[in-house]
Amino acid sequence: MDKILIIGAGGQIGVELTLALRDIYGRNNVIATDIKEEHPILKADNGPFMNLDVMDFKEVAKVISHQNITQVYLLAAILSATGESKPIWAWDINMQSLLNLLEICRENKVKKFYWPSSIAAFGSTTPGNNTPQHTIVEPTTVYGISKYAGELWCQYYFNRYGLDIRSLRYPGLISWKSAPGGGTTDYAIDIYIEALKKKHFTCFLAEDTYLPMMYMNDAIRATIELMEAPADKIKNRMAYNLSSMSFSPKEVAESIKKHIPDFTIDYAPDFRQQIAASWPQSIDDTEARTDWNWKPEFDLDKMTVDMLENIKIKLGL
Ligand SMILES: NC(=O)c1ccc[n+]([C@@H]2O[C@H](COP(=O)([O-])OP(=O)(O)OC[C@H]3O[C@@H](n4cnc5c(N)ncnc54)[C@H](O)[C@@H]3O)[C@@H](O)[C@H]2O)c1
Repeated sequence: MDKILIIGAGGQIGVELTLALRDIYGRNNVIATDIKEEHPILKADNGPFMNLDVMDFKEVAKVISHQNITQVYLLAAILSATGESKPIWAWDINMQSLLNLLEICRENKVKKFYWPSSIAAFGSTTPGNNTPQHTIVEPTTVYGISKYAGELWCQYYFNRYGLDIRSLRYPGLISWKSAPGGGTTDYAIDIYIEALKKKHFTCFLAEDTYLPMMYMNDAIRATIELMEAPADKIKNRMAYNLSSMSFSPKEVAESIKKHIPDFTIDYAPDFRQQIAASWPQSIDDTEARTDWNWKPEFDLDKMTVDMLENIKIKLGL
């Protein structure tokens, strides 16, 4: 029987991934951990939770060994916008957490290890439309540098030690259950909340800034499908490009207006505009589709319906 450890389970992805994995593996076989206190949604789910600092090598190793962990999902990280405010701290956490877990997983013969990368691994010299899997990669943010270096470390541990490590380059992820953690694509979540609360939104990106995006339902499904695929199907041991949609703030606003006709938007680009400008506008994920049959389900309008419905209920509107 598999036993799963999720590190950074209280974040935007972690909460939903923990619930999805508990549905498959059983509540008691999925241990959620985070440096902060247990997220209320996880608390309500009543599964196992521990406070754990990913930088504490000895403690993480102890938990993995004592709990007989067979799969690890490492989600703790400092995201793009937050990382730029304290680059050395962000580098330290993003890299050391991964190196700690690679070593601990190797020593403890963990069967499978998941660590997400990001479209932030690309930079302004990367071809921005339909960015191929293998292309020029010169990231300019500390977050992006840590993601690309991390991908290379993952491949190294697979080649050198046979650690079964799998990774995805997530686009900007949009969700309503748990709040985003300081990324450059967070506007695409706040816009729905403000549309429902105030019928107005001031966007920190310019109206024509196209970025690759994905609804959380698709991202969770992609993660689990990648992890459940037979090992011989995983031909890429760095990180797979993953794509579902690409849109600009203006297009999300238009999608929202179909349901809230008097919604208005204005634009006040800040430092995050520069980060967004260095990332691709759309991604070619042919390898993921070919190797392990990836196929997205949500487009912009389908996501808008689901976001508005769920946020309305959550906010009691
Ligand atoms: N959300 C996105 O749009 C997106 C896009 C691309 C890649 N990713 C990647 O996915 C992963 C998860 O992202 P997320 O959006 O859920 O981030 P998040 O910021 O919402 O969650 C990260 C979690 O890690 C925890 N954490 C931070 N420092 C820790 C430490 N020292 N020890 C233990 N836990 C710690 C935080 O408390 C938080 O709950 C990250 O690697 C991120 O780079 C996310």
